[in-house]
Amino acid sequence: MIEFRDHDAIDSMAEAVAAEIVAIVAAAIAAKGEALLAFPGGSTPRPIFARLLASPLPWQNLIIFPGDDRLVPIDSPLSNFRELDAMFAGTGARLVDLTCAASDYHAAGDAADAKLQTLRWPPDLVWLGMGMDGHTASIFPGPDLESALDSPPSRRAVGVLPDPLPREAPVARVSLTRPAIRSAQSIAITLRGSDKRDLIERAIAEGPSSQFPVGRVLAGAEAPVRIHCCP
Ligand code: 6PG
Repeated sequence: MIEFRDHDAIDSMAEAVAAEIVAIVAAAIAAKGEALLAFPGGSTPRPIFARLLASPLPWQNLIIFPGDDRLVPIDSPLSNFRELDAMFAGTGARLVDLTCAASDYHAAGDAADAKLQTLRWPPDLVWLGMGMDGHTASIFPGPDLESALDSPPSRRAVGVLPDPLPREAPVARVSLTRPAIRSAQSIAITLRGSDKRDLIERAIAEGPSSQFPVGRVLAGAEAPVRIHCCP
């Protein structure tokens, strides 16, 4: 089930998404003693991260990893893990870096998958962003689109080379696969701007053969999907 939640401003969206994550964590910890969470890159999550930091969470029971990452050194401003580490390193949460110094991005994808195989699956939440090209996580148009979408169910991450390379981060990546995203207990997407809201509505309407990766990821998802939008 896909549900849209529209917010007046980024602050109210941040408050609502943080409250939702606190509730997901509480339920997961009550059920199994830990919460496994995939967080997105990009700028939209930052105020939500700040709200989470101010929330009463049992941080030592949280395992957080980026749903995708750019294959760059960990001190690069392009690194999604660097952003998570800067926000959450002091909390006691366990942070899992999906990148490694592999010689090629396919090998990096294999290594990311191997790391994720060590975690107690499925994630309680996969929280995603979306780009104006309709990518989500790092499932981009390009030569690896089909392998990211149509991996076997047990495959959790793959290496991806977007084509065209996105201007803001023109590098290869590792990403959760579509089966891994859909295996989550819940999926959240956070978006800013009416252009992105229009795009995701169009992608969902197009369904499983959508021209946009996000439409193909969401079509047929069984987990509840909440799409949070603000201007
Ligand atoms: C990436 C980012 C990317 C991001 C979206 C939305 O690795 O390229 O994670 O997928 O989530 O582009 O970015 P904004 O939140 O900045 O709009």
